[in-house]
Amino acid sequence: MSVYDLTGRKALVTGGARGLGAGMAEALARAGAAVVIGDIREELGQATVDAIKKTGGDAAFLPLNVTDDHSWERCVESTIAELGGLDIVVNNAGVEISSLVVDLDPDDIRTMLEVNILGTALGIKHAFRAMRPGGPAGRGGAVVNIASVAATIAFPGIAAYSATKSAVDRLTRVAAMESGKLGYAIRVNCVYPGLVPTEMGNQLAQDMVTLGLFPSVEECVGAVIGLTPHGRLGEVSDMADAVVFLASDASRFITGAGLPVDGGMGM
Ligand SMILES: NC(=O)c1ccc[n+]([C@@H]2O[C@H](COP(=O)([O-])OP(=O)(O)OC[C@H]3O[C@@H](n4cnc5c(N)ncnc54)[C@H](O)[C@@H]3O)[C@@H](O)[C@H]2O)c1
Repeated sequence: MSVYDLTGRKALVTGGARGLGAGMAEALARAGAAVVIGDIREELGQATVDAIKKTGGDAAFLPLNVTDDHSWERCVESTIAELGGLDIVVNNAGVEISSLVVDLDPDDIRTMLEVNILGTALGIKHAFRAMRPGGPAGRGGAVVNIASVAATIAFPGIAAYSATKSAVDRLTRVAAMESGKLGYAIRVNCVYPGLVPTEMGNQLAQDMVTLGLFPSVEECVGAVIGLTPHGRLGEVSDMADAVVFLASDASRFITGAGLPVDGGMGM
C-alpha cells in the first residue's frame, strides 16, 4: 500500500464548502479518506459533498462556525459519530479583507482575527482533545493548518491578513511542540499557499486595483507571477495534494513544519 494512501482514515476539513477547502476534501477522499466538510455555507457544502459522492468518495456535511467553541464541540462529536473516528483535521477556513494600513477598520481586523486565528486555535484544541490517547477518537493523527505565502512576504494591502497568517504559523509550531512533548501522537504542520484564483484570490486581486496599488487585475496578477520563480499562479490541486501529503504517512516524521506551496514566491 502506498504511504500516501488514506484508506480507513477519517478527516474533517473546515471551510470545505468551496475553493481550496473543497479541493482538499476532494483530494483526501480520492486518497481513500472519509471526509466531513465543516462550514457555515450549508448549501454550498452539501453540493461539494454530493460532487465527492458522485465520484465514489465518502463524504458528509456538518455545520461549523470555526469561531465558536461550542460549534466545534458539536461538529467534532458528530464527525466521530458519522465517520466512526477522526484522524485528520484540516484548519482551512479563512477570510481576507484587504485594506491599506492607513484605512484599517477595527471590525474587519476583528473578523480576520476571529476566523483565521481563533478558528485555527480552536480547531487544533478540539483535534487534540478528540485524537490524543484517551480521546473519543484516540488514535493520534495529523492536523494541517492553512497559513499563506502572506505570512512569509510583505505584499501591500493585506497587512492585517498577513499578521493573522503569521499567527497560524506560530500556533502550528507551539501546538506541534506540545503534542510531541505530551505524547499525543498528533503531527501538526501548516501550508503556505501562494495566490490561487478562488473567490478569495480573485477578490484580492480586484481589491488591489480598488486600493490603487495596481492599475488593473491583469497587472496585479502579472506582478504576483513575476515574483514567482515557477512563473504561474497556484492551482487548487497544488494545495490539495500538499495537504494529502501532510495528512498521510508519507510525512510521518514531519511535525511543526511550514510547507510553502507557492512556486517559490516566498523563498
Ligand atoms: N486563495 C488564495 O489565494 C489563498 C492563498 C493563501 C492562503 N489562502 C487560505 O486558504 C484558505 C481557503 O481560501 P479560499 O481561497 O478557498 O477562500 P474562499 O473564500 O473561497 O473559501 C473559504 C471557505 O471558508 C468558509 N468559512 C469562512 N468563515 C468561516 C467560519 N467562521 N466557519 C466555517 N467556515 C468558514 C467559507 O464559507 C468558505 O467555504 C483560507 O484560509 C485562505 O486564507 C488562500
